[in-house]
This record gives sequence, C-alpha cells and structure tokens, in this order.
Amino acid sequence: MTDSVTARFHVYPNERAAARALARHVSDAIQVKPDLVLGLPTGRTPVGFYHELSGMVDHGRCSFRSVRTFNLDEFLGIPPTHPGSYRRFMEAHLFNRVDLPASQINFLNGDARDPEAECERYEQAIAQAGGLDVQILGIGTNGHIGFNEPGPRLEARTHLVTLKLESRRSNAALFGGQLDRVPTEALSMGMATILQAESLILLAHGESKAGCIAAVVHGPLTTELPASFLQLHHDVDLILDTGAASALTSEAQTVQR
Ligand code: GLP
Repeated sequence: MTDSVTARFHVYPNERAAARALARHVSDAIQVKPDLVLGLPTGRTPVGFYHELSGMVDHGRCSFRSVRTFNLDEFLGIPPTHPGSYRRFMEAHLFNRVDLPASQINFLNGDARDPEAECERYEQAIAQAGGLDVQILGIGTNGHIGFNEPGPRLEARTHLVTLKLESRRSNAALFGGQLDRVPTEALSMGMATILQAESLILLAHGESKAGCIAAVVHGPLTTELPASFLQLHHDVDLILDTGAASALTSEAQTVQR
C-alpha cells in the first residue's frame, strides 16, 4: 500500500453496518478493560453508533458501569444545560440511555469563567484517569478533529478555539438552524492530547467526507488538514462506509461483509 497512514481500513456497505462494527469494537474493548477510558465525539456521524451501543447495553451485552468518558469538545459561552450544547447532545444520544454513572462522565464546561483554567483542569483529569485508552473521532469536511481547525498552526493541548464559519455552519442544526446563534468559540482537546490516546478510531460516512479522508490517508502531514496528524499514530482504525472510502486507493476500499 502506498498510503502514508499505517491505519487499518474497515469499509462497510453502509452507515448502519459501520456503526454496528464500531459498537462491537467498543463493547469488546470494555469486556477486556471494564474501566476503559473512552474519548467520545459529537456530530451527526456517531449518532448511529451511539444508538447501536445503547441497544447492546439494553440487551445486557455491554455495560458502562465502570467506564470513564471524556468528550472531545464543547461550545464556549453556553451552559451544559443549553439545548445546543454538546453535553445535551451526549445526554440525548448516549449518557441517558446507558448505565454510565454521571460521576464518570468528563466534559469541558463551556460556561467556565476562566476558560484557560478549565482547559488545564481537563488535561489534568485525563492524566489522572491514566490517559485515554480509546479515542473515537469524527471528522469535519475541512479536516478538523474535535475543534482543531485548519490553519497555520495547531495547538497541542486542550485550548480555546475560534470556530471557522464552515464549522459553525455544520453545527447550526443544534441551534435551530440559526447560524447567528452558534457560538463563535469552543474548547477542544488539542492534537497532542488526542494523539496520546492508546488507540484512535475514526468513523466517517458519506461521499462528502471522501475527499477529506483520501487527503488524510494519502496526503502530506499539514496543519491545514488537522486529521493528517493521525499519520503520526501507531494504532489507528478507520471505519468507513463505501461513500467515505470512495476516493481511497482500490486496495483500501475492500468492503467487509
Ligand atoms: C463537529 C465536532 C467534531 C465532529 C464534526 C463532524 O464540528 N466538533 O468533533 O467530528 O462536527 O460532524 P458531522 O459528524 O456532523 O459531520
């Protein structure tokens, strides 16, 4: 393979099959390590995965009793109870549906008076948990990971971000479709925070992500495409549907049945 990323590719016929495969993978990881430290993303992409995972918990095939979670990012300037917050999103799609104790949920507080101190607190909480075992990632169409936006430089650690218009647009649905209501800033884990996870799993579906995925896999390492930094990690799985894989080399597009 000529790819720069030494990732494992898992291509599924559709979004649902990809979501199921990821849910099985996470459930297996929890079986091996019940107190797994799990990093989680938001966005439309992981919704099916969260649905599959909560179904497995309902059927007694998986338990979050001892799992600890850390979400990648949160909007700044809104409280956790705001209907557009990532915290509320996670409650609706996962936290309120599984047996995960509230005390084991870690989240950046978008309402923090001192955002820098909040970022520092989060870094320390991750370190105290022993680091992230598995970090699940989505990807923005501009190649952002968490809210590490493209630009001339990237921040290593959890930090305050000014959001790109494109990212605010793609999050407008959380704010009733009204762009002017989407916060202009956010807090996000940094690229080094993410890359220090033991293993990374990127989930993507749909042709709108195909060009970006191909650039991440086949292109150079560049701060203009933050996800390209995944090339530096030794343990990356890409879980894709055929749409998201459609611009990869044919070898990387082999579909799992
Ligand atoms: C947001 C999140 C990212 C996520 C991205 C992709 O901007 N901060 O972590 O990967 O959305 O969104 P979607 O899955 O809706 O394409």
